Amino acid sequence: MEQAPVRDRNDPRQYDDLAAQWWEPRGAFAMLHWIAAARAVHLPPGGGRLLDIACGGGLLAPHTGRFTHVGVDLQHSGLQVAKQHGVVAVQGDAGRLPFADEAFDVVVAGEVLEHVRDPAAVVAEACRVLRSGGTLVLDTIARTWWGRFSSVTVAERLPAGPPPRLHDPAMFVDRRELVTTASRHGVALRLQGLRPSATDYVRWLLGNKEDVRMLPTRSTAGLFQGFGIKA
Ligand SMILES: C[S@@+](CC[C@H](N)C(=O)[O-])C[C@H]1O[C@@H](n2cnc3c(N)ncnc32)[C@H](O)[C@@H]1O
Repeated sequence: MEQAPVRDRNDPRQYDDLAAQWWEPRGAFAMLHWIAAARAVHLPPGGGRLLDIACGGGLLAPHTGRFTHVGVDLQHSGLQVAKQHGVVAVQGDAGRLPFADEAFDVVVAGEVLEHVRDPAAVVAEACRVLRSGGTLVLDTIARTWWGRFSSVTVAERLPAGPPPRLHDPAMFVDRRELVTTASRHGVALRLQGLRPSATDYVRWLLGNKEDVRMLPTRSTAGLFQGFGIKA
């Protein structure tokens, strides 16, 4: 396999370098598949229009059921892959979404807030395009020593962990600011931590399991989810 070039931390061109790996079960984005499954737990039943902000290769697609799955992302390479999995792919910036107010029944933003300069703008946009009574689901990494240690120092060295240099821990997310911003825009967010099941992970490493369950944890100091309904 050709070696990907070494990029600066959080350089978005890494997604282009690794585009062939979005759907590789043991590739660079393996853990994102497991996180997508955990995100889907918070989707409401039924259907309607679901916006997947920063959809990447569209890994949420197997979990969107009867929803029309619209994905928006900056990177063309990911959108091309997402399209092949049934996502209605739109190029755009999460901080300035190209959609009307209240256009969606569900809005998800998975693993993107820790990659943008202004996460508050992304949350404001997510809430703007969500209808009243609609569901918002986020997941990201907390700006704590544990977030940095678990998601960078450790995870970047583990199989299935994020590709080295994908994250810049200086951009990890302040949980209190996140909750305050969402509340200002009409969504009372509940936070919950997430960690991989250790037994599943060992079985996955041994080749005895296809995927790994992400388990809820009370501590939100590392990887965490936020979910809520817009008033
Ligand atoms: C870690 S990936 C997560 C992809 C997907 N949400 C998932 O969980 O599988 C981060 C994604 O955010 C996208 N991204 C980064 N900054 C963005 C922005 N300002 N607007 C839209 N997409 C952005 C990247 O192109 C990449 O696809």
